[in-house]
Amino acid sequence: MGTLPELASTTSRRHLATSLPRRWRHVQAVAAKAEQLAYLVGDDADLLAAAAWLHDIGYARDIADTGSHSLDGARWLLRQGFDSRLAALVAHHSCASYEADERGLGHALAREFPREETATSDALWYADMTTGPDGQDLTVDERLAEIRERYGPAHVVTRFWRRAEPTLQAAVRRTQLRMSAQPT
Ligand SMILES: [Fe+2]
Repeated sequence: MGTLPELASTTSRRHLATSLPRRWRHVQAVAAKAEQLAYLVGDDADLLAAAAWLHDIGYARDIADTGSHSLDGARWLLRQGFDSRLAALVAHHSCASYEADERGLGHALAREFPREETATSDALWYADMTTGPDGQDLTVDERLAEIRERYGPAHVVTRFWRRAEPTLQAAVRRTQLRMSAQPT
């Protein structure tokens, strides 16, 4: 049997690589970045890498259900037998609860999945928020500007990001502080 990150990457590839190649490029780069941050999270290294591989699995056409990709992904992971903490990291990645709120699913998300605030969740958010849609490296400000442009000012996704920005910036900043306090 493979390791948890191997299982996660195989699962992610199966559901995203062919049908959503752009999303898959993003996911691969987020996972590579998360693996580089393993030294910040101690025993959670495999969990962090697996969550990075699976964080956007809810966009897969055969998994998407409610319109909240993080909720759909997390529920699906539980049904597949993945660990509940892994599912919860996916459920809440990068302020997903704000997006779920915009879609009327915030209560369901909060009820079903506890949100942790740890070096591990911060590192996952950092990896996602500093990686563009094609897998390119971006600062968090560039990434937020790119999203605003991609969806336009009135879109639910843009509204959600505007509310989420301070919380996202804080998670990125905490990770950067940990990186400078503990260089590789
Ligand atoms: Fe992502």
